[in-house]
Amino acid sequence: MMLIAKRDESKCTRCGICEEIVACPAGEICNEEKCVGCGACYLACPNEAITLEEKPRKRHITIKIDGEKIQVPERITVRKALELAGYKISKFPGEGDIFAPCDVGACWSCAVKIDGEIKPSCVTAVREGMEIETEFDFTPRRIVHGWTGHPVGGVGTPWWIKGFRYIEVAVFACGCNLRCPQCQNWTTTYCGVGKTYTPREAALVMTNMRRIYGVDRMAISGGESTLNREWLIRYIAELKKLNPDENARFHVDTNATILTKDYIDELIEAGVTDIGPDIKGLKLETFMKITGIKDRELAEKYHKTNWKAVKYLIDLRDRIFVGIGIPYNRELISIEEVVKIGEKIYKLDPEVQVCVLDYRAEFRSKISRPSYEEMLKVWKALKDIGLKTVICQTSRGYIGP
Ligand code: SF4
Ligand code: SF4
Ligand code: FES
Repeated sequence: MMLIAKRDESKCTRCGICEEIVACPAGEICNEEKCVGCGACYLACPNEAITLEEKPRKRHITIKIDGEKIQVPERITVRKALELAGYKISKFPGEGDIFAPCDVGACWSCAVKIDGEIKPSCVTAVREGMEIETEFDFTPRRIVHGWTGHPVGGVGTPWWIKGFRYIEVAVFACGCNLRCPQCQNWTTTYCGVGKTYTPREAALVMTNMRRIYGVDRMAISGGESTLNREWLIRYIAELKKLNPDENARFHVDTNATILTKDYIDELIEAGVTDIGPDIKGLKLETFMKITGIKDRELAEKYHKTNWKAVKYLIDLRDRIFVGIGIPYNRELISIEEVVKIGEKIYKLDPEVQVCVLDYRAEFRSKISRPSYEEMLKVWKALKDIGLKTVICQTSRGYIGP
């Protein structure tokens, strides 16, 4: 299916987001004569003003993929060309030739060598005579941004250090594999522009930030931090090398949907000390609603991997700190389902930290924020199960220990 993007002027508020954060390979958002149908603007627009429509291409061009000449339609992405050439593009790691989870040019998991230069295939346009290589050696890169000091921390931050002074420094990895309508960090999730960093470069900046803020904890969140596995493992290892002291803590917050056991082992081996996986539903239907993943088979894989990761991480609590995030908003998940999640966690380990996040209207969602009283009800229901450490985020601050 060849696509082009169209803007519905009646829905467009001229917010400028698509111009600011989308790595449009056509160089101009929604120019029907130039669009290569990558879909990045369609994903990023908070007002759903952009649609993708099928439009066959008139001309074909010749490109080379791994030395083989092939004719492909003009004005498509390199990823689409790879797909047409028979390469399997997957949304779950290890299941295809190219793992392409974010679709916006942020995670660089889908990067290939294009005319001698490494570029993300999802937001690079084909052109006549282009040479593409899928096997090559290179130091991984990805877009990360927003280095900042954090007074609160994330899901994987122990409750007893949360306070009013800076407790950790954080960076945000752009790109995500989920499509949550209420994404609270969507200008990171759909950001395909900005500097790409090698693991070493990012670790150097983070180490400097640690010095500036005078803290010991260094966190990475997103978007989704785990998408480019090689990058993350090397980043943590570099960070540990630069911060060998015993006070240094290396914290990863994640949706844990591609976090397999071997990935977790590798992260711990590299140096991760604190991890905050989210759980986005007990039922698959809830998970699909919260994450916006419409492909049931894929959602099932993410959902299963998520729960397996949480169970495995809880088993490793003597080696690393684990804090689990659960969403709450009655329009997305019932209190009964949150309680069932709590009961499952209780059976695994009643002592593990659980943090309930009050989901609210962000990005495309119009849901209203749960009231303080409602969050208190959630907190009490989880405490009644016997869970020792329950923290609820509310409009009036945290309820918890
Ligand atoms: S992001 Fe959407 S609403 Fe904002 S300017 Fe672009 S098309 Fe318009
Ligand atoms: S971002 Fe992609 S889909 Fe949107 S206008 Fe540019 S090329 Fe077309
Ligand atoms: S899938 Fe292409 S950069 Fe993430």
